[in-house]
Amino acid sequence: MTSASDLSDRTTIVVGASRGLGRGIATALAEAGAPVIAVARTASPIVELANRTGTIQPEVADASDATVAGSLIDRYEPQVVILVAGASPLIRPLQHQTWETFSVNWQTDVRIGFHWVREALLKPLRRGSRVVVISSGAALAGSPLSGGYAGAKATQRFITAYARDEAKRAELDITFTAVLPRITPLTDLGRPAVQAYATRSGQTVEEYLQQFGEPLTPEVAGAALVELVRADVAGVGPSYLLTGAGLQALP
Ligand SMILES: NC(=O)c1ccc[n+]([C@@H]2O[C@H](COP(=O)([O-])OP(=O)(O)OC[C@H]3O[C@@H](n4cnc5c(N)ncnc54)[C@H](OP(=O)(O)O)[C@@H]3O)[C@@H](O)[C@H]2O)c1
Repeated sequence: MTSASDLSDRTTIVVGASRGLGRGIATALAEAGAPVIAVARTASPIVELANRTGTIQPEVADASDATVAGSLIDRYEPQVVILVAGASPLIRPLQHQTWETFSVNWQTDVRIGFHWVREALLKPLRRGSRVVVISSGAALAGSPLSGGYAGAKATQRFITAYARDEAKRAELDITFTAVLPRITPLTDLGRPAVQAYATRSGQTVEEYLQQFGEPLTPEVAGAALVELVRADVAGVGPSYLLTGAGLQALP
């Protein structure tokens, strides 16, 4: 991907910035010079992040609330929106899920994707804007111990593709991209999942992780998103796998 380097005029909202991949992404974009609005429900970690990094502004909000996307997009008029927030699925086999636990990622991840992507199209965001939705590699491979997680993340990818098409049809010049991270033990969400999938396959965590190569860190995720946001629109595809080695375009 060829790139335009200056991000100082690219106001960026990172939804789900208090920990894990979102914190790495917010930090990397701020360090690359972007003014960053860091959104999460818990105040202390995003306030602490803002105190450490001058160009980060904390916003305490539930991103799945139907009014939050519209009000934050109106207030900040971002040119980049990155949706990272998601719920931790209950790690159990199908027959040990209830409908409520099975559908938790539909009520959070899909709901957040739906509200924010819709608002980005409706406003619409300024020409040249980018919207990145963090889906999951599980959308490709399934996640048999995570209830409806894989289906929810696949739906986020569909929503992103639908929006990309709607933006093109209406000549909005807004680029929608889905990023599918590979499972990593380095976040609160990934750690119990890795442990459970390792146990199920009769392996240690270390043995299980060997198939994936270098683990995805929040810092690698941050560098990858900086690269994606800086990339010339003409070279940005609809979706990418994100591993410890960085981004890989998906067909
Ligand atoms: N870790 C993995 O192995 C992996 C693999 C593939 C895909 N992913 C995806 O990558 C994303 C980030 O995962 P992660 O592992 O970094 O998760 P994480 O460590 O649990 O962090 C989730 C972040 O989302 C925020 N959040 C959750 N619900 C929110 C809401 N309703 N409104 C605002 N913020 C909310 C959390 O902050 P608050 O709780 O303070 O709101 C937190 O900042 C998720 O969409 C996940 O599905 C993760």
